[in-house]
Amino acid sequence: MKVPYLDLKAQYESIRGEIADAIQQVLDKTAFAGGPFVAQFEKEFAAFCGTRFSAGVGSGTDALWMALLGLGVSAGDEVITVPDTFIATAEAISWCGAKPVFVDVDPVTYNMDPSKIEAAITRKTKAIIPVHLFGQMADMDPILEIARKRKLFVIEDASQAHGAEYKGKKAGSIGDAGCFSFYPGKNLGAYGEAGAVVTNNEELDKKMRMLRDHGQAKKYYHSLIGWNARMDGIQGAVLSVKLRHLPAWTEGRRRNAAVYDELLKGVTEVTTPKEAAYAKHVYHIYAIRVPGRDRLIAALAEKDIHCGIHYPIPLHLLDSYKSLNLGKGSFPVAEKSAEEFVSLPMFPELSADQIGRVVEEIKRFAIAI
Ligand SMILES: Cc1ncc(COP(=O)(O)O)c(C=O)c1O
Repeated sequence: MKVPYLDLKAQYESIRGEIADAIQQVLDKTAFAGGPFVAQFEKEFAAFCGTRFSAGVGSGTDALWMALLGLGVSAGDEVITVPDTFIATAEAISWCGAKPVFVDVDPVTYNMDPSKIEAAITRKTKAIIPVHLFGQMADMDPILEIARKRKLFVIEDASQAHGAEYKGKKAGSIGDAGCFSFYPGKNLGAYGEAGAVVTNNEELDKKMRMLRDHGQAKKYYHSLIGWNARMDGIQGAVLSVKLRHLPAWTEGRRRNAAVYDELLKGVTEVTTPKEAAYAKHVYHIYAIRVPGRDRLIAALAEKDIHCGIHYPIPLHLLDSYKSLNLGKGSFPVAEKSAEEFVSLPMFPELSADQIGRVVEEIKRFAIAI
């Protein structure tokens, strides 16, 4: 039995008719760049997140960049984030001319460890970006408390956490801004590139809408130096269709995670993900930790079971961030987990039989080590 890491086709087949109708409407109206379908999705996504505003942009990377620029982060500033995330979190900081300052993560949730933040704050610190890794939110209360005390902005990188919750509040709705990626493989994925920033701050929303559209609020009256970071009309229409299904897909992911949890109980070589008491985890990624991770991935691949690694190298050890001069040992929790993470197949349509097959092979491997 083949078990893919992700199966976008299975999900597409289940909504094929709705998607065709939605795309046809965009074609009929030739509303290709921005326009009414993006505006409609923005309204729906803000309501879903429980925020007043949502601005559609070209990608999750754009979302982070527009939020940082919108809040005035610029050259000479520092922004605190984590090293175990996708590079885009740090790239967006760098493209504002600011410096990413990393703090280590919590060994259970793999999210920003709030107890490490104070020591990383300097006079140059402007903002904190917690990343809701794998679909579980960071511990936001202590992060917000520090931010309020030190007058720092909080930008949530919720790219992996559509619909995740912290004490009943939705991802993206707690900080000054919440940034989402709708990359096709995400829990809410476009059929191309797309992203959004949600916020309750009207002024910030207005500024980001200008920044994403070459700094103009009125055509050709450019009052800011912006960028082209608009969302396509087709993506807006596709995302509106898919948003209606997201709650059911999230339940599918949570059901599958529970099956993995149960079947992997007692496999002492494997550490399964833990849902924090404050959290509703949406399992964008179901990452286990296993010593000898590369051998396990190779053994599973031989049996046609396909896994991922998120992420093999923490950001501070990448060539692109060599200039920060942060060597091995700087962030021990992030470094150790990067060596052991294996992302198991996870998507709503994954069957219990497929999960059983994955676990059967993991157990076979565990006995052999
Ligand atoms: C945590 C995180 N931040 C940012 C991004 C960037 O999103 P995009 O690929 O849509 O630019 C991603 C997407 O992979 C992500 O996982």
